[in-house]
Amino acid sequence: MDSWTEFYQGCRVLITGGLGFLGSNLAIRLVEMGADVTILDGLLEGMGGNWFNIQPIRDRVEVFVAPLSDEKTAEAASKNQDLIFNIAMQPSHLISMERPLYDIETNVVSQVRFLESLRRVNPRARVVYVGSRAQFGRVDRLPISEETPLNPRDVYAVSKQAVEWYHLQYQTICGLRVTSLRLGNTYGPRHQMHHAQYGVQNYLIRLAMEDQEIVVYGDGRQWRELIYIDDTVDALLRLGAMDRCVGEIYCIGAKERVRFVELVQAIIRTCGSGRYRHEPWPKDREAIEVGDVITDDTKLRTHTGWSPTVSLEEGLRRTVAFYQEHRGHYW
Ligand SMILES: NC(=O)c1ccc[n+]([C@@H]2O[C@H](COP(=O)([O-])OP(=O)(O)OC[C@H]3O[C@@H](n4cnc5c(N)ncnc54)[C@H](O)[C@@H]3O)[C@@H](O)[C@H]2O)c1
Repeated sequence: MDSWTEFYQGCRVLITGGLGFLGSNLAIRLVEMGADVTILDGLLEGMGGNWFNIQPIRDRVEVFVAPLSDEKTAEAASKNQDLIFNIAMQPSHLISMERPLYDIETNVVSQVRFLESLRRVNPRARVVYVGSRAQFGRVDRLPISEETPLNPRDVYAVSKQAVEWYHLQYQTICGLRVTSLRLGNTYGPRHQMHHAQYGVQNYLIRLAMEDQEIVVYGDGRQWRELIYIDDTVDALLRLGAMDRCVGEIYCIGAKERVRFVELVQAIIRTCGSGRYRHEPWPKDREAIEVGDVITDDTKLRTHTGWSPTVSLEEGLRRTVAFYQEHRGHYW
């Protein structure tokens, strides 16, 4: 299992959404490992695409700026790739409920167009799809595992599920070799800090750094698992390198579990500024709230040897240090 890192030396890798939070952190790690990295990103408005995210590797990656639905560009970017990390989707639950058709166009229709592009130029490509824990929605029984029934609570979650199914369908249609990771809340450097429409765990860090007040809805005692970006990247890399993961779906947990209000307290402690107060749940957020998040990720650990290594305290320390240094590039 340890030799999986060699897989990436000279490996041709495409990352869709590679100028965003997950994609850019993954790209930096891949370049360090000797991979030949291409990025396809539409720099869509309101999302986390940011040229500064790839500043450490800017001269060592090829970047195509176009939406996934631009078939000619998608074909040029996908041709001859050994592996594709398919990450580009609009990530906001709230926006998906306000503008369902926008979500379906940006996520489902664009993704199917992208899969069609692959079918034409790289039909047996190895693809790692980044799904979401949201596909499970609010569950009756914890912990969540790959066996937990699906119960998406918002349009975004339905789209994430649909696109996972389309990926699996293209295994049958053209022989695509797919793995899906149903990812939970990830935090760390390079996340957008302009708004709280998604990735709230990151936005709270900005509020605390600015010595603002953080609002905790309800009692804040719901369990959360916060995965530090390096642990998420490590899981994605293992899934992409290992043949036994083809055709499989995985859940992922974090090193520690915290109650939401404890997370807020930890952020304020790390920043040395900020404060919080409780408020009743607003209707729009309550409607899509999923309750406790507790994950059984035994399958991921057993199949890949992955385990999370970064504690919440350490992850927050690294994240705050990054934004203190590079704040001007994020807000
Ligand atoms: N960050 C998390 O905690 C988390 C958790 C679960 C799932 N995810 C999933 O991971 C993916 C990326 O999340 P992120 O946090 O990196 O977001 P992000 O906003 O930082 O990055 C998304 C990037 O994808 C690009 N993009 C989106 N739709 C596109 C399209 N149709 N065509 C071309 N480019 C497009 C955007 O321009 C942006 O650069 C999303 O699919 C999200 O649903 C993220």
